[in-house]
Amino acid sequence: MANPSLLILAGDGIGPEVMVEVRKIIDWLGARRGLVFDVSEDLVGGCAYDAHGTPLADATMARAQEVDAVLLGAVGGPKYDALDFSVKPERGLLRLRKEMDLYANLRPAQCFAALADFSSLKREIVEGLDIMIVRELTSGVYFGEPRGIFTEGNERVGINTQRYTESEIARVARSAFELARRRSNRVCSMEKANVMESGILWREVVQKVHDEEYPEVELSHMYADAGAMQLTRRPKQFDVIVTDNLFGDLLSDLAAMLTGSLGMLPSASLGAPMANGRPKAMYEPVHGSAPDIAGQGKANPIACILSFAMALRYSFDQGAEADRLERAIETVLADGLRTADLMGPEGGSPISTGAMGDAILGALDASL
Ligand code: IPM
Ligand code: MG
Repeated sequence: MANPSLLILAGDGIGPEVMVEVRKIIDWLGARRGLVFDVSEDLVGGCAYDAHGTPLADATMARAQEVDAVLLGAVGGPKYDALDFSVKPERGLLRLRKEMDLYANLRPAQCFAALADFSSLKREIVEGLDIMIVRELTSGVYFGEPRGIFTEGNERVGINTQRYTESEIARVARSAFELARRRSNRVCSMEKANVMESGILWREVVQKVHDEEYPEVELSHMYADAGAMQLTRRPKQFDVIVTDNLFGDLLSDLAAMLTGSLGMLPSASLGAPMANGRPKAMYEPVHGSAPDIAGQGKANPIACILSFAMALRYSFDQGAEADRLERAIETVLADGLRTADLMGPEGGSPISTGAMGDAILGALDASL
């Protein structure tokens, strides 16, 4: 059988430097675990615009459709702020999500014991936190038509459309219920059914999928604003949260901060199964390109490495290797090693991006 294939799109800002550390892990798996990947690399975002005048070349898009999984770093930077909207770095990312039809975005928010004091909330509120936000990723207000800036009378009007079909809601609801079955068996669905028709439909469809296909999973519904409040008040009440594209964008940043650092959070974006049975998939850290610290060796590579752990688990059926990698990260954190983003108010001496990657490799070696 051919080796599984990976396309690395490191992107802009800190993307390339955190991806170097992921490459170390990939090489380690090949050398020490006999798990060899065929890795190719290409451009996305601002660097792709610089090279090709577009944030995602058609050839790159085609390659992304062929491989078993895409690993993405981050896109964007101040250099590209003035670009026309249609060629902004983010458009490259959104094109990948849309054309690969990656409708289920899994964003786990887990609080590592060693980092519980980094949260802006009290230790007892976040310690042991383990929630999974399932964000719908290919529809809603991010893609709905009509959209644009139009002229109406003597002024301009900006329009975006929140639009969800029943099938779009049902398929992401199924992803959430399937995940819940393998976790604590609870799903909370969030929308704004009190003000939005799309929210009313969302609630109805999620309830119907539940009643017909997953009656044994505990389902609750919450308005997304109340959900934001509950996430900060008592986050451990949640197991799986399923929500739309825009609310999911907001709530996942909020959940990220509960865990202490955006530099720690991975994500998986999954679509329908391909011919080989693997889901269409892209893995990326939740953090952005952080242009303010790019190129200085300050970035935390853990979110990107944990995203690769999710690839091992969800694309390559290598749950044991994913566990090993996650445990290696826990060990390194428990040993007190910290990148600059993980320095508390009391300070300390941070290690570099590369040193963090090497420490994780050391913990992997020690695990054998
Ligand atoms: C995210 C990001 C993206 C989004 C941006 C970069 C387009 O914030 O993945 O959460 O809004 O989806
Ligand atoms: Mg976001």
